[in-house]
Amino acid sequence: MRQKLVVGNWKMHGNAADNRQLLQGLVAGLPAVGDVAVAVCVPFPYLAQAQSLLAATPLAWGAQNLSEHARGAYTGEVSAAMLSDFGCRYAIVGHSERRALYGETDAQVAAKFVAAKAAGLVPILCVGETLAQREVGDTMRVVLAQLDAVLDLAGVAAFSGVVVAYEPVWAIGTGRTATPGEAQDVHAAIRARVAARDAEVAARLQVLYGGSVKASNAGEIFAQADIDGGLVGGASLVVDEFLAICQAAG
Ligand code: G3P
Repeated sequence: MRQKLVVGNWKMHGNAADNRQLLQGLVAGLPAVGDVAVAVCVPFPYLAQAQSLLAATPLAWGAQNLSEHARGAYTGEVSAAMLSDFGCRYAIVGHSERRALYGETDAQVAAKFVAAKAAGLVPILCVGETLAQREVGDTMRVVLAQLDAVLDLAGVAAFSGVVVAYEPVWAIGTGRTATPGEAQDVHAAIRARVAARDAEVAARLQVLYGGSVKASNAGEIFAQADIDGGLVGGASLVVDEFLAICQAAG
């Protein structure tokens, strides 16, 4: 049985004062959430704050990106070991905003996945199609090619204990969500693709849905057989809304 997981992706939001309130509010509300693992992925400068406020709590934290390199002359980059130094459990890899706005390629995403695993982090590998790709019936090909790029480099054994997030690009921050059925179809295809290489790893793989998840739609999305929780953007910045989403996963 896979444990449900809900991860907040703050993106480039927050400041020290607001973060404190948000994190303290989440910690206070978590006991009412059932058997659900919960985490927040915060901007790099706030990792130390997350670590000091969350270290003795069940709320885990992580980063939204990392370098594929271990160290060296890479101005502005942050390595996996640095994230581990600040107690991160998770690192988001290949978010569609990084692919679209910063030109991250499948090969780079795969290298980042490998770097995160090597440092003992849990990569949250994001995959998803654009609206144009969905409209021409290309969803499965695109999503599975993004997945294959990482499977080919890292090997299926490296998918043990990692997280995949299906985030249709057209559903991110738009208020438009995939229907539970549309999401389930893609989640099932992701699991089947991994199962073709290793059925046990696939059975344990947590596959999250992301894209305009809210308290009002989380329940029906999370009820799908292959949806193991959510990667939540905007709604993760509001204490009650995020807690309600976590509760819906319980
Ligand atoms: O990574 C989470 C994300 O891209 C979804 O964002 O704001 O649509 O929940 P949002």
